[in-house]
Amino acid sequence: MKFLITAGPTREPIDPVRYISNRSSGKMGYAIAEAALDAGHEVVLISGPVALVAPPRAQIVRVTTADEMYNAVHANLADIDIAVLCAAVADFKPTEYVPRKIKKNEGVPTIDLTPTRDILASLGALKEKKFLLAGFAAETDDLEKNARTKLEKKQCDVVIGNDVSAPGLGFESDENELTIFLPDHSSRVLQRASKRDLAKSLVKIFCGMKQNC
Ligand code: CTP
Repeated sequence: MKFLITAGPTREPIDPVRYISNRSSGKMGYAIAEAALDAGHEVVLISGPVALVAPPRAQIVRVTTADEMYNAVHANLADIDIAVLCAAVADFKPTEYVPRKIKKNEGVPTIDLTPTRDILASLGALKEKKFLLAGFAAETDDLEKNARTKLEKKQCDVVIGNDVSAPGLGFESDENELTIFLPDHSSRVLQRASKRDLAKSLVKIFCGMKQNC
């Protein structure tokens, strides 16, 4: 099967030296890419800026901004069987980019923000979608409620939720605990484990779902 995976954060530039971003190491997305490759699948990995070595067998597309990630995803949809949107895409970008460094002595700047496009929702809204669509929900509160809202609103086939307020789990960590939310209202917990082991389980689950649909 052919996977498309987004990973890492995006950066939305304010001026040549400053940007808005999200916390994300990219480890979960890269682990899913490795696990899919190890299981013999093809992978297109669309990655924001991270300090990780890309799996050599993946087709890697490096992007910086949410707009670049959106365009890269839509340009790489041909023949995709499973799309896993794991990236922590910035929800807002500065309305205007200042092409010179904003100087401190000019006073505290007011930065006007514009929403970025939602990549996951744009795939969910595609009329003739042949691929399985998996989204992530990183939450500090009401994991189930927020994950189920994303599942429905973004028209995903599955949402993987994780509680990012739990100490030692999630961001930057090598471990995670995940809950899989499905449209039939069922859910399944993948207990705390390395991101590598969780990624292997996710790849099996996604492939099982794809074969059954
Ligand atoms: N996502 C995306 N494009 C965006 C924002 C989010 O593709 N512009 C995807 C993420 O990759 C993830 C899912 O949507 O798979 C949920 O992202 P998250 O940041 O948890 O949710 P948001 O939609 O940003 O909503 P909120 O800020 O209310 O939690």
